[in-house]
Amino acid sequence: MLYKKRVPEKEQEMDDYEEVLSYYKAHQKLKKKSWDIYDLIARNILKNINIKEGKVLDVACGYGGLMNALRKHNNNLEFVGIDMSKAMLEVGRKHVANKKIKFLRMRGDNLEFPDETFDYILCKDSFHHFKNPVKTLQEMYRVLKKDGYIYAIDLRRDAPEEAVLHIIQLASELNIENMILYVESHRASYTLKEMKKIVEKSGIKKYKLSSPRITKDFLKQYNLKEDDWLTASDYLKEKWVLLIKKE
Ligand SMILES: C[S@@+](CC[C@H](N)C(=O)[O-])C[C@H]1O[C@@H](n2cnc3c(N)ncnc32)[C@H](O)[C@@H]1O
Repeated sequence: MLYKKRVPEKEQEMDDYEEVLSYYKAHQKLKKKSWDIYDLIARNILKNINIKEGKVLDVACGYGGLMNALRKHNNNLEFVGIDMSKAMLEVGRKHVANKKIKFLRMRGDNLEFPDETFDYILCKDSFHHFKNPVKTLQEMYRVLKKDGYIYAIDLRRDAPEEAVLHIIQLASELNIENMILYVESHRASYTLKEMKKIVEKSGIKKYKLSSPRITKDFLKQYNLKEDDWLTASDYLKEKWVLLIKKE
């Protein structure tokens, strides 16, 4: 493990419009060059959950990259993305929002929705920022409908070192700010064991917490070159996935 001790990050790392725009552009550049991070996660969601139609909430959605990717696979979904960063929401409203994707400024640990509002709840790469991860998970569960699903994914500090170093190298090729952001986020992320404690504290009894399964077949959908295959595979190796079905 590269960092034994967790070093928490600021809750809201990006509230400068130009900084968020550069983060957005770095993703667009990567998408053109090789593969799309958000599409990879969208496909992983669809592999785990048989999503048909309904209302989706993305907690700490950033500029909405994941909602945008998932919408391309399923046009029957209505999305609401919430985030506390004004700049993220501004970039999202400008580049991603449409009739089916709305953005609201809100905190994850105080979701301003009635109980059982959403069919699916997503949360990508944000748990390590939350001031109150237990309360945030409880809020997600509260606004989830019966038979609905929560899919959360984030970095894991206990990922294999080679995978982490590989992603640091990739991030540095995009731009230096991006690399620093990534290293700080990795250092702030939870291990699988730490994340398990958070879920158990929330009182949720039935859940699945694991590393995403990556097979060549799964990545074949992308027609990736060997190098990109390894990158995509390492990108997923350094994540945990939390899957919850509300019964
Ligand atoms: C690394 S970004 C990930 C954004 C997005 N999910 C993605 O994958 O592109 C983390 C996001 O969490 C948001 N955030 C952190 N704490 C939050 C909270 N308590 N409530 C809502 N948003 C929060 C930040 O503003 C930031 O947009």
